[in-house]
Amino acid sequence: MNVNQLRRVPLVAKWPVTSCRSASNKAPRPPKPSPQSPNPVAIKRRQATPARQHYQERPTPQAQAETTAKPGHGIPPRVLTFLGISALTISTYCGYLYASYTREVNKAQTLNVPRDVSDRYNTTAATFDADVELSEKAMGLGKKRRDLVHQARGHVLEVSCGTGRNLPFYELGERRGLDVDGHAAVLGCRSVTFVDLSPQMVVITKDKFEKLYPAFPAVFRVCDAGAVAPPAGIERSGVKAESPVYFDTIVQTMGLCSMPDPVATLRHLGSVTEPGSGRILLLEHGRSYYDWVNRILDNLAPAHADRHGCWWNRDIGDIVRESGLEIVEEKRWHLGTTWRYILRPKQGTGKSQS
Ligand SMILES: C[S@@+](CC[C@H](N)C(=O)[O-])C[C@H]1O[C@@H](n2cnc3c(N)ncnc32)[C@H](O)[C@@H]1O
Repeated sequence: MNVNQLRRVPLVAKWPVTSCRSASNKAPRPPKPSPQSPNPVAIKRRQATPARQHYQERPTPQAQAETTAKPGHGIPPRVLTFLGISALTISTYCGYLYASYTREVNKAQTLNVPRDVSDRYNTTAATFDADVELSEKAMGLGKKRRDLVHQARGHVLEVSCGTGRNLPFYELGERRGLDVDGHAAVLGCRSVTFVDLSPQMVVITKDKFEKLYPAFPAVFRVCDAGAVAPPAGIERSGVKAESPVYFDTIVQTMGLCSMPDPVATLRHLGSVTEPGSGRILLLEHGRSYYDWVNRILDNLAPAHADRHGCWWNRDIGDIVRESGLEIVEEKRWHLGTTWRYILRPKQGTGKSQS
């Protein structure tokens, strides 16, 4: 017997004693193999010794049921069926969307659409509200309109008024209160003038206004926003009470997309806005922050403009900067496609460039 054999004998002999005498049915913990162990055979033999199992736990009926009901992945068959049907429906719908998208893109490329598509509103005026109601609700545009229009004060002009979707949010009549910065101010509208290029749209706005505010006088004009005159000769109760030269607030929502020269229009609006405290309030839609969204807007733009009278791929930020008006506030939502601006005439020039 050499030295290694001698070392092995006591280790192997001790092993079963500890294992059998340990209380309960727990398997004994095998000793840690020593890194210096000279003989790997001895360690192997220890690990091979099985712990005696005194009794085996019987599975409960619930555990048995689970084992039979669930396949290996643990998802019940009903859930699997539901997921399968959902995946099939979604992929069919995506396929349908993609097919319609490519068809529309191909069609759009063959169209020769003029830059000025504003006449489309003469035919869509009657269904305009119904057409946009759902998408505006989904995008929460009602609140954005209200937050913007609430800021209108003094002599107010709304251009591209359409079907008067902003009407419920005007505060008509002046009152003393605090402005957004907490300063004492005169709030509310002293006079309101509504302008749109489409006669059909102006009729709808006028009807709605008279139902909502029967006692408040207002002016309605069929007119190009780029040529609107200052509010000279505003009448109150049939009397020419005042002839202000400027509007205190100009409101426009979703209008820049529809006009042939939006930069020139904004410049003109700047020239009829009170130079010191006057504001132009815009809520517009146009290009997104994201290239992939802009690609979709660009691809479908001619077809959309031809049908709805609106170029939805315009860069509203570029239009505003080119107009030379001063930006008081800029905000964007919906992947950057909804733009809100508060503007004022360029300060120090007396009048904005026209
Ligand atoms: C998309 S609709 C928006 C209507 C409304 N402002 C709204 O927020 O629902 C665009 C409106 O701009 C009007 N419009 C287009 N070009 C115009 C112009 N040069 N001057 C005045 N109105 C114009 C159209 O007749 C149409 O009513």
